[in-house]
Amino acid sequence: MPDVNPEFVKYAELHIPGRDPIKLPILKGTMGPEVIDIRALGKEGYFTFDPGFVSTASCSSRITFIDGAKGILLYRGYPIDQLATKANYLKTCYLLFKGELPTPAQYEEFEYKVKHHTLIHEQINSLFQAFRRDSHPMALMCGIAGALSAFYHDNLDIYDPEHRENTMIRLIAKMPTLAAMAYKYSIGQPFMYPRNDLDFAANFLHMMFATPAEDYKVNPVIAKAMDRIFILHADHEQNASTSSVRLAGSSGANPYACIAAGIASLWGPAHGGANEACLRMLEQIGTCDRIPEFVARAKDKNDPFRLSGFGHRVYKTYDPRAVVMRETCHEVLNELHIKDHPILDVATELEKIALSDEYFIERHLYPNVDFYSGIILNAIGIPTSMFTVIFAIARTIGWISHWNEMQEMPESRIGRPRQIYVGKTLRDIKASPARRRSAKSSAATKI
Ligand code: CMC
Repeated sequence: MPDVNPEFVKYAELHIPGRDPIKLPILKGTMGPEVIDIRALGKEGYFTFDPGFVSTASCSSRITFIDGAKGILLYRGYPIDQLATKANYLKTCYLLFKGELPTPAQYEEFEYKVKHHTLIHEQINSLFQAFRRDSHPMALMCGIAGALSAFYHDNLDIYDPEHRENTMIRLIAKMPTLAAMAYKYSIGQPFMYPRNDLDFAANFLHMMFATPAEDYKVNPVIAKAMDRIFILHADHEQNASTSSVRLAGSSGANPYACIAAGIASLWGPAHGGANEACLRMLEQIGTCDRIPEFVARAKDKNDPFRLSGFGHRVYKTYDPRAVVMRETCHEVLNELHIKDHPILDVATELEKIALSDEYFIERHLYPNVDFYSGIILNAIGIPTSMFTVIFAIARTIGWISHWNEMQEMPESRIGRPRQIYVGKTLRDIKASPARRRSAKSSAATKI
């Protein structure tokens, strides 16, 4: 039985003509809708059909709760806006992985450990040289995150909770270092080593923008915005990349390989690639007078174009992360004295038009978190191709927390979805005419 309310015992009955009803338990979590447990169906000779897992829970989880209709997002019970304003990214990491916010002493120890694992093995530097300079940084991240499994053999026992926690610390500490290296490699600048006197977000900005040639002062408003971007993207329950990590991990694969699977899944424009796609779209629109043309294309069923940064699989109201991100977006733009910025003008006008357009209202298509995060990252000076990489840094704690939880859940099994087969029915390979002729002539020879 999954980790759900055991006192809640109700059954659904499935009536299939010509058969006795099949009783299916209805499960109830601590929050959220009731869930029909269909695991017994397979033994009865039936599967369910649910492409995209729209109506299927693949696991039970204690980490993140989303109510898409009400626009609620909780990490371990805490609302996302409270974490964004009252915690920081490392506290959020501790919370997601361990289940509780750290005490001051626990935080001090955790921060110390993370800061003392930010360096990566020097041999990894040479892996970068194998990539073309113009490679997309997500290509480097997929490859090099997976390659970490070749360097940290000392903590790869997935059944040992201490090994799993050490791996979590290594991953969250090293991902910003790898990400900044991917950027430096693409622009031909030397890699910058991490600085342990800086906090998590400030250190990342230092590794991105400092050079050995001169001093670089991290702007605290920008560092705070960066930290918020990390918090808001830290987890989002069973999304495509987290489910990819869980599916890869369900076979017992090592955690670095599983994280590489998550990075690959995140790359797509319907998921983590949306902030990059959104900014490219704003650039393509260029000026406010062209917005109606693009809105018309987004509504046209014969045109595959969609407004990036709008809509969400789960949220059918305002994305609660977008509310916080919008506020941070204004803070950053004020700090940087950016007022008349063409991309910002297009974004503001597009938001206004889409929020008052019947098509978007009817379909509950609101700006999502990536609509605003793209604008902030652009203002900070982060190149568009790095946007999804930043999402990957943030989401690493979500991925590894789910991977860790999966190892502890008794219900976990290797993931193996079923299918409806719609291909050819059984048939035999027909002998080719040439083979038939030679078969005939050899029969004739025998006679
Ligand atoms: N622009 C125009 N129309 C849209 C859009 C959009 N961005 N999103 C959905 N629709 C329409 C869609 O055509 C459909 O219309 P109809 O009912 O007439 O056929 C209706 O809205 C429902 O769409 P759907 O495809 O069934 O919705 P979904 O839940 O499968 O897709 C989505 C969710 C996020 C993939 C989609 O909204 C989308 O492609 N958005 C743009 C990409 C984006 O911003 N993604 C980032 C999501 S937030 C980051 C993350 O959590 O990963």
